[in-house]
Amino acid sequence: MCLPGKISASMMCASLLNLEDDIRQLEKAGVEYLHIDIMDGVFVPNIMLSNSFIRAVRSITGLPLDIHLMITQPENKLEWFDIQENDIVAIHYESTSNVEGTLQMIGHLGAHPAVALSPATPIEVISYLLEDLYMVNIMAVNPGFSGRTMVPMTLQKINDTRDFLNRKGKTDIMIEADGNVTFEHAMEMRKAGADMFVGGSSSLFDPRYSITEAVTRLRNSIL
Ligand code: DX5
Ligand code: ZN
Repeated sequence: MCLPGKISASMMCASLLNLEDDIRQLEKAGVEYLHIDIMDGVFVPNIMLSNSFIRAVRSITGLPLDIHLMITQPENKLEWFDIQENDIVAIHYESTSNVEGTLQMIGHLGAHPAVALSPATPIEVISYLLEDLYMVNIMAVNPGFSGRTMVPMTLQKINDTRDFLNRKGKTDIMIEADGNVTFEHAMEMRKAGADMFVGGSSSLFDPRYSITEAVTRLRNSIL
């Protein structure tokens, strides 16, 4: 049994100058989430997006947010962000010594807790988090920038994660593929067991297509 495929549009790849127009097109095309990459320049060597950006997005659309925190000690910073019910909030396993407590805090805020794993992090680290998790983000690239190339072991890792969750009876925990999700990679990631796909520069914001066309292409890749 696999969960329906969902699309999470990467806002760091959207046009800042035409943000409202891009979001309206994404909404009309039926994406389920907007992916918000927050970077602090410490956990990853880049600074990206902010709570002001979150508030601007919320002033445009009611779509739920898929917030990807690439920040150190997220447990001390959750209240900095306008986190709402129905959002997904992912922390990096590698970013805090208090992973389980932080996932609990996200749940107490009414949002869906998720953990993101950088490529080198083994999936077994989630073994004792299964009661806290709504989703696992399997990073297909080393986090910090859009436009990077999928690391070779990604498909195996997604497959291993889906097998691991199924063996534990956790078929309802979603697996998100994040990074270099091209139309072709999405098909392979879907086959490997992913359910949520971050559409960034590799697909939804590929300049060769309109957003509407790109969403249709990505949707067809994950059926
Ligand atoms: C990278 C971010 C991704 C990024 C994906 O650290 O987590 O969400 O936006 O962009 P592409 O699709 O260009 O890899
Ligand atoms: Zn991301």
